[in-house]
Amino acid sequence: MFSKHSCCGHRSRTVAALFPATALALLLGFGDNLVAQSHRLEKKSFGKTPDGVEVFLYTLKNASGMEVKITNFGGRITALQAPDRNRKFADVVLGFDSVDGFATGPAAGGYFGALIGRYGNRLAHGRFTLDGHTYQGPTNEGTNMLHGGTSGFDKKVWTAKETSSHGDPALELHYLSPDNQEGFPGNLNVTVRYSLDEKNGLRIDYTATTDKATVLNLTNHSYFNLEGAGSQTVLNERLTIDANRFTPVDATLIPTGAIENVAGTPVDFRKATVIGSRINEENEQLKLGKGYDFNFVLNHPGDLSAVAVKVEDPKSGRVMEVFTTEPGVQFYTGNFLNGTVRGIGGVYAYRSALCLETQHFPDSPNHPNFPSTVLRPGKTFRSTTIYRFSTE
Ligand code: GLA
Repeated sequence: MFSKHSCCGHRSRTVAALFPATALALLLGFGDNLVAQSHRLEKKSFGKTPDGVEVFLYTLKNASGMEVKITNFGGRITALQAPDRNRKFADVVLGFDSVDGFATGPAAGGYFGALIGRYGNRLAHGRFTLDGHTYQGPTNEGTNMLHGGTSGFDKKVWTAKETSSHGDPALELHYLSPDNQEGFPGNLNVTVRYSLDEKNGLRIDYTATTDKATVLNLTNHSYFNLEGAGSQTVLNERLTIDANRFTPVDATLIPTGAIENVAGTPVDFRKATVIGSRINEENEQLKLGKGYDFNFVLNHPGDLSAVAVKVEDPKSGRVMEVFTTEPGVQFYTGNFLNGTVRGIGGVYAYRSALCLETQHFPDSPNHPNFPSTVLRPGKTFRSTTIYRFSTE
């Protein structure tokens, strides 16, 4: 189904067969490098998981040279090359060059680049009640469940399919989470599609269906450093979050249930602010989070045209804008990174990366005032997030 294209001196699969216009352009010979080098998806082995299953690494590329690598182990983004203001490319996500790097050693608990489910962030006591029935899952972080339990979606091998999305090449991942996995009800069919457009946007489309009422909160847990993975800190980068409110937490990082204004606090990012400028202020929430580790309530939920978050690196000029249909985003400053993990970019130091996990609010099933995370049979869960890269 995928034709082999020889222009670039190495094996590559093109999706020309799926795109008649592209195929025609190539045939007629006016498929210059712009067309030829765009719309490509490469695949190679990424090694074997600790259980002995071979997994693969897929590379999406666009015409301007941006490249994203994704493995079907945990649906993880392993590398993302983005240009700086001088068109110099750098890998801006923390990753590893084989599945071992992600699955073993201290990095195994870090969720690097991973798809998170069934429930992103925390569920108090690993428990929730739905339709009068109480469901209990494992507590893998103190008294709480974090990121789906002891074996969440980040550790699963997903089936992968090369496809297209809005005219762009895409990698579609699928995972069937069986009824009662990590205590969650229902067989949950999850599809996640990664695509890369010609405007340097990495788009992630999530869909899910279930055969029993359940809860879910899906996200991606990439760690970004716009100066380049392995750079020592993100504290000099500037951040804007389109959120007037956030959900404060207790000592175990479970939301108290309150929804508070950011105004007058160090979690106010409504105007572009240097991330490190207030991170060590005397503030109860910052102490509990050990830095920034909070869910922000976005001002334009469901609006994919609104910039939810903007990160700017003054040094390289790289900019990342985040667009999402989700109502919240977890902004986390890598407070648990401690320099014990070495990846493609070198040693991943304390606060050397940030995560922007678009999501429903943590522990929503236990807070009726939060947007609902319930999915019922016959309904399809849909969610989209775009990370768009540019320079200034
Ligand atoms: C999320 C959480 C953090 C931390 C990281 C993973 O961002 O909110 O507290 O657990 O995941 O290390």
